[in-house]
Amino acid sequence: MPTFTVLGAGAMGTALCKPFIDAGWEVRLWGTWLDDHLIDAIEAGQPHPRIKVAAAPGIRTFRSGQLAEALEGADVVDIAVTSEGLPRVTEMALDHIAGLRALCLTAKGFWTDPEGRIRLLPDAIRAIADQKGVSLPPLVAVGGPVKANECAAGEVTATTYASRDLALAETLAREAATDTYGIRPSDDETGVELCAALKNVYAISLGIADGLGEATGVPRHNLKAAAFAQAIREMSLLVAAVGGHSETPYGLAGVGDLEVTGLSGRNKLYGVRLGKGETPDGALAEMNRLEQTVEGYPAAPLAVAFAHQAGADEGTLPLLHAVARILQGGVDDVYAAVAAAVKPARP
Ligand SMILES: NC(=O)c1ccc[n+]([C@@H]2O[C@H](COP(=O)([O-])OP(=O)(O)OC[C@H]3O[C@@H](n4cnc5c(N)ncnc54)[C@H](O)[C@@H]3O)[C@@H](O)[C@H]2O)c1
Repeated sequence: MPTFTVLGAGAMGTALCKPFIDAGWEVRLWGTWLDDHLIDAIEAGQPHPRIKVAAAPGIRTFRSGQLAEALEGADVVDIAVTSEGLPRVTEMALDHIAGLRALCLTAKGFWTDPEGRIRLLPDAIRAIADQKGVSLPPLVAVGGPVKANECAAGEVTATTYASRDLALAETLAREAATDTYGIRPSDDETGVELCAALKNVYAISLGIADGLGEATGVPRHNLKAAAFAQAIREMSLLVAAVGGHSETPYGLAGVGDLEVTGLSGRNKLYGVRLGKGETPDGALAEMNRLEQTVEGYPAAPLAVAFAHQAGADEGTLPLLHAVARILQGGVDDVYAAVAAAVKPARP
């Protein structure tokens, strides 16, 4: 029985254990020093506090001081902490990963390297491993439209596993798929990671369209649909600019993930507030008060800087820039700003 260790007992880390248990793997879940209360709930068989679904029976749990035991003899490891936690958890794990078949990555977002360049998370892992002189197993980016609560409950879910080693992604897709968890293998690590990092920013624009409609009673579905299509177009251009496949955003990692993020996520809800006339800072303060992290807010300037490094500026990515400007508080009329960014120019 192959062994799968998940690092991070938050919503997504716990959820990802379910298909691997169903697929017959030995599954271990390691909680960081922030996760003791989550591990307590899992061990007591209670619903996971973040997703309100009980973790799959059969998971072996490990506390933060037991990282070496959790990783001992593992075949595949998945890092499922936030982008903020990734560098520290990676450093801690690197001493124990010799012999792994694959290092998977559920964590999503951007990383600023010591020279101030904005990088995707697999490159963060490579840089940290390089610095420590540790050789890495092949990396696998796990992406696509996966709401943690539904995945944890065994609802039908389609995901994508992307690795520069396509044969490995295909093998894992065969070994971890279940009747309800389908995995599309891909060789486009960059495309999958970039779509995931960008979608939270673009989801804010979808929320703005909904908020404008709610505030005025005049639906703005056309605006929202145009913003959706523009977001995918921009993701495609930027993915291609950094060496990924331009078609990746048109699949699960882009269209799929943006759809699910724009339906109900916290980024979309933040956008709704902006569409209804709240200021960016006021809306963010309110979201923080409700303990709702808006990942797209800090990601927006990083995404703009990442795009700039790749030579893709406002002419190529007008919606990304419009959202970033709105979040900076520099826009009075959010309707006009989003509309200008998503309307095709007059021929
Ligand atoms: N929730 C989803 O549906 C979903 C889907 C796909 C990808 N993701 C990605 O998975 C990652 C985790 O998301 P989540 O929803 O499980 O979040 P969560 O808040 O439920 O869990 C966060 C995890 O990160 C760890 N963590 C947070 N701050 C840390 C720090 N400073 N140092 C070390 N560890 C830290 C926590 O201990 C916990 O294990 C994110 O990058 C997210 O974008 C989430």
